[in-house]
Amino acid sequence: MTDQSAKFTMDSEQAELPRRSGTIGPEVVDVTQLYKDTGLFTFDPGFSSTASCESKITYIDGDNGILLHRGYSIDELAEKGDYLEACYLLLYGELPTAREKEDFVYRVTRHTMVHEQMNRFFTGFRRDAHPMAVMVACVGALSAFYHDSTDIADPHQRMVASLRMIAKMPTIAAMAYKYHIGQPFVYPRNDLDYAENFLHMCFAVPCEPYEINPVLARAMDRIFTLHADHEQNASTSTVRLAGSSGANPFACIAAGVACLWGPAHGGANEAALNMLMEIGTADRIPEFIARAKDKNDPFRLMGFGHRVYKNYDPRAKIMQKTCHEVLDELGVRDDPLLEVAMELERIALTDQYFIDKKLYPNVDFYSGITLKALGFPTAMFTVLFAVARTVGWIAQWKEMIEDPKQRIGRPRQLYTGAPQRDYMPVQDRG
Ligand code: CMC
Repeated sequence: MTDQSAKFTMDSEQAELPRRSGTIGPEVVDVTQLYKDTGLFTFDPGFSSTASCESKITYIDGDNGILLHRGYSIDELAEKGDYLEACYLLLYGELPTAREKEDFVYRVTRHTMVHEQMNRFFTGFRRDAHPMAVMVACVGALSAFYHDSTDIADPHQRMVASLRMIAKMPTIAAMAYKYHIGQPFVYPRNDLDYAENFLHMCFAVPCEPYEINPVLARAMDRIFTLHADHEQNASTSTVRLAGSSGANPFACIAAGVACLWGPAHGGANEAALNMLMEIGTADRIPEFIARAKDKNDPFRLMGFGHRVYKNYDPRAKIMQKTCHEVLDELGVRDDPLLEVAMELERIALTDQYFIDKKLYPNVDFYSGITLKALGFPTAMFTVLFAVARTVGWIAQWKEMIEDPKQRIGRPRQLYTGAPQRDYMPVQDRG
């Protein structure tokens, strides 16, 4: 949709830049011809003002705390639907009918096992390796096992690769966990639903039966749904950029997993819980708030702030509710971490620094406490995020590959290094 144009003036030069509007959200100024017309690049290293692509999948209104997938609010999807329904929606654009859902669940479920040879892959790692390090390697290795779904020009292969990724990520994640703690791998059980099966693969042991707690399975499913997609965040943009060169989907998702690992992104839930443990008791909160405000101290309140949300992260509200449900179910009445979290949230929300900078709790603030209560060690938190986000990565990758205008992503730069100079033989260098 091209509407009016924006006029760009520099000295005596003028350029007309087309303005384009989407269905909702800010208009964009299309600068694709800017360099050709004026010899100028745009400069936006953190992409704060740059729409890197056109997409129909997810919409975020950060000022009003709104997150929509294909037009449906995250609140409704998390409360009324389930994760595999959200996966279908993200991949195909519509909510499934009962029959379509049954068929989709069946197809995902049939891909839950990984090639038996992959077990050997795990045993090459040190037991004390971070599970995310193992994930990056094993997800990347999938393309060495599933050659028959790496031809990105074939729509059938693209779909098989998508289903395989969604189905196998929980299995690989559970294997990374089991290897980390020195327990035998537990094979997937296709009579269980997605979240139940994941809990089973993580917490069952061969020597006794494992009973699925439906409240905890529902919480797990909701955590997956809340993390399923989030527009053009760092890891998704990484997947798109990797995919733009024609790399196979398994390699692209491995790139996404690597990017997610960072503490400013998916690693924040682990960092947030570590921070709550470091604070320890509510009386120490003012000390940490003061540190967060101190320009000379690199400390930040983990689980607070977001590049896009300048209001309460809508996922954080559902996460907070889920957190209480899990703690109630487990009979954890006086969790000191929850106490610290609630008091920290209360103080931060009334503190002028946080109000002025629009720093609200994000999804990671409560997910760490919930995951800990479910029995996961902190090192697994980002792994669970990666499992959930796989569908978002794959849906965005598919959308990009299926776009006839797609071409390799190749940003330019503002060069500030040395200008051209002559090479001097080593003996002549001072
Ligand atoms: N604690 C204290 N001050 C903060 C925080 C924080 N958590 N976050 C931002 N600020 C301050 C920052 O110091 C800066 O102040 P000033 O303008 O005076 O220099 C201002 O707020 C803007 O910060 P920014 O770094 O320019 O903002 P950004 O959009 O680049 O960063 C962020 C966004 C999420 C990386 C950042 O808020 C942060 O580091 N938060 C903690 C980590 C975290 O919780 N990340 C999870 C994000 S949600 C899940 C996901 O997407 O993966």
